[in-house]
Amino acid sequence: MHIRVYGVQADELAAYEKAEGKYGFTFEFAEAPLNEDTVDQVHNCDGIILVTTCNVTEKVVKELSERGVKYLATRSAGSDHVDYDAVVKYGLHCANVPFYAPEAIAEHTILMALWVLRHGKKSYEMVKSGDFTMKGLKGRQLGQLTAGVLGTGRIGRTTMTLLNGFGTKVLGWDPYPNAAAEKLGTYVSKEELFAQSDIVFLHCPLTDDSYHLICDETLALMKPGAVLVNTARGGLVDHAAVLKALESGKLSGFAFDVYENEAEFVRKKLPVDQISDPVFKALFQREDTAYSAHVAFYTDGAINSMIEVTLDNLKEYETTGQCRNEIKVEGGAV
Ligand code: NAI
Repeated sequence: MHIRVYGVQADELAAYEKAEGKYGFTFEFAEAPLNEDTVDQVHNCDGIILVTTCNVTEKVVKELSERGVKYLATRSAGSDHVDYDAVVKYGLHCANVPFYAPEAIAEHTILMALWVLRHGKKSYEMVKSGDFTMKGLKGRQLGQLTAGVLGTGRIGRTTMTLLNGFGTKVLGWDPYPNAAAEKLGTYVSKEELFAQSDIVFLHCPLTDDSYHLICDETLALMKPGAVLVNTARGGLVDHAAVLKALESGKLSGFAFDVYENEAEFVRKKLPVDQISDPVFKALFQREDTAYSAHVAFYTDGAINSMIEVTLDNLKEYETTGQCRNEIKVEGGAV
């Protein structure tokens, strides 16, 4: 199979070179993402590897089918950049990577939690400015806290495992409780979780039900001085409500790797003062917050796993015409 690969980074080329022997594929690499303006650059390819910056509209799918492309494989869990109805309509197939390295996201989650609990930003700024005192730096130990995990799926359970290592008391809530998570913590009602947790971790998908799960009402249920950590999806959080809660002291810290309107700046170089969202700017600039630009997944292990599953998907299509990871109409996670 000859495959055109979008979004490849220089340090990933070796993985594709190795794959030529292992899978019997040949590759070509494209710099500009696949979209209506660039689809005419596709020639003589059976398969295409996509990334989330591609925009695979119906027009693109139609043109790809006319150009002989049969299989698409996105190197991501999310697939909302692909018009899957069009993929079906034109007789193509598209697979995704439903999950990869939950450890990568869980480790980043703990990193962010500790950074907030130990006043990492303030400490860093103080030292940078020559202030080597301890003023305002007294922290809290994760192992002495009660943590509430909302969403006890693959990533939630991995965070629970790590929290157990610290000796943290772990509570969980999930609309679909599972036996594996029961071994890692105690399921309680959502209200109890909010009332008892010193630190709340969000590990659930963004759905109609979970949109603005953290809002004025749920923040009111939380312990005074609680910490919130969100490495799942920005839309889970009403950020204006969180900002108010930080200002009032209801929350003592907020760590976030995702933000509802992050498309304006994530994966771009843009000075903070040029970002138009005043709530983001206010949150970002506070001493009691930690922000990372949707990078929780971004480790060598996770990237290797994403590439491997993507290539396995294409091999499965080549040998059977089908793939167990064919995407679902509603798209995937991230
Ligand atoms: P998963 O599907 O294994 O687990 C999700 C869990 O959340 C399930 O047990 C489900 O029953 C539960 N759930 C569904 N609705 C809920 C609700 N309203 N409240 C509480 N729990 C609910 O998914 P996985 O792999 O653990 O991923 C979780 C989320 O992490 C993804 O949906 C995605 O948004 C986010 N993610 C973030 C990444 C990053 O780089 N920041 C990378 C990958 C995923």
